[in-house]
Amino acid sequence: MRMVDLISKKKSSEILTDEEIQFMIDGYVKEEIPDYQMSAMLMAICFNGMTDHEMAVMTGAMAHSGDMVDLSAIEGIKVDKHSTGGVGDKTTLVIAPIVAACGGKVAKMSGRGLGHTGGTVDKMESIPGMRTSIPRDEFFDIVNKTGLSVIGQSGNLAPADKKLYALRDVTATVNSIPLIASSIMSKKLAAGSDSILLDVKTGSGAFMKTLDDSILLASKMVAIGEHEGRRMVALITDMDTPLGNAIGSSLEVIEAIQTLQGNGPEDLTSICLSLSANMLHLSGMGDVETCKNMAREAIASGRALGKLIDMVEAQGGDSSVVKDTNAFEKAPLSYEVRSDRDGYVTHMNTERCGIASVALGAGRVTKESAIDYSAGIILDKKVGAFVNKGDLLATLYASDEKMFAEAESILLEAYTISDEKPKMEPLIFARVSKEGIEKYS
Ligand code: URA
Repeated sequence: MRMVDLISKKKSSEILTDEEIQFMIDGYVKEEIPDYQMSAMLMAICFNGMTDHEMAVMTGAMAHSGDMVDLSAIEGIKVDKHSTGGVGDKTTLVIAPIVAACGGKVAKMSGRGLGHTGGTVDKMESIPGMRTSIPRDEFFDIVNKTGLSVIGQSGNLAPADKKLYALRDVTATVNSIPLIASSIMSKKLAAGSDSILLDVKTGSGAFMKTLDDSILLASKMVAIGEHEGRRMVALITDMDTPLGNAIGSSLEVIEAIQTLQGNGPEDLTSICLSLSANMLHLSGMGDVETCKNMAREAIASGRALGKLIDMVEAQGGDSSVVKDTNAFEKAPLSYEVRSDRDGYVTHMNTERCGIASVALGAGRVTKESAIDYSAGIILDKKVGAFVNKGDLLATLYASDEKMFAEAESILLEAYTISDEKPKMEPLIFARVSKEGIEKYS
């Protein structure tokens, strides 16, 4: 078999056989197929797509390219969650404790941020002493004892995806439904949970900018997971405005803690209740409405916050910052961004908001960049708010005065302020499961 013939087939929109897909993934991981040939194949897939069968075979080959984690040492139904990535998305830190407080089991491997999106592992590492790289047996032990543990992805989880994702990032081939679906689902299948909730983001801060594309991506991933024997649900959630008010590692952890204390922003609280309710439903705890009430009670009673403290302590973190968020290290400098006109905030280019936080040191420019955990943005005004000229839009936090000018100009550009009151979009647009698609808008 020759890779050049497979590229030629896909270029002509022909269907690759199971053996050809396996050959391509194996050969690429073993470095027998060079990046330039794989780049050509990825571009051909971007233009000509893949059938559902091709996508499922490619996902399986990518998942099996490394360790398939066996979570059977953990008792009960293990439930995972994956977000397709966004700005201000700190939901894992809220929902994993809620689910654990209601008796669910969350053994989760999360990623780091790249580009304009943040990653849970970076956020957790803003808690002093917090370990995110933990030996497998200890990880299982923590979940058995506390109901939850969130760690970084281990080196050999879906290595095919690791290589392919890095190549896609530099060959303009990220934005393809078969490539995103196989990338996400290969990692989720390898991570071993019985049930998986997908949070598919849609809008200006997401990889999928339109609702139709987001629903299509969700349907493909749900079908792949169900075919592999996992219970799947996907929620299509809004990423046309940052989630919550905080962007940046420790600022987001503080907001997650406030949400667990019952004092979080409305949008974040509402999305977290829906996500946790669906995870509990997938864990066999009842219908979604019953599970939502359980989630509310877990917050109101303080049990969910207690679970976050348990996890932080089990992973070596200093829980005093969770008990008193004033103890988090603060950025030495702050800067206020003010509106230059009167009007309603009608849109926020969410990708640009993420890029403004990266300009403050809160995100990575390259995979190797260090993150400033205390840097970031607190948004004071979001879509729907009325502002007068001179009103505070956001406060920027950084360690170097020179960073403010660029971040301010990116953020001001991200805000659209107009005379007309905007129509507010729902936070959750649709729910996709094997039963079908329920649309909420
Ligand atoms: N997240 C992933 O893990 N992979 C993609 O391709 C896009 C988002």
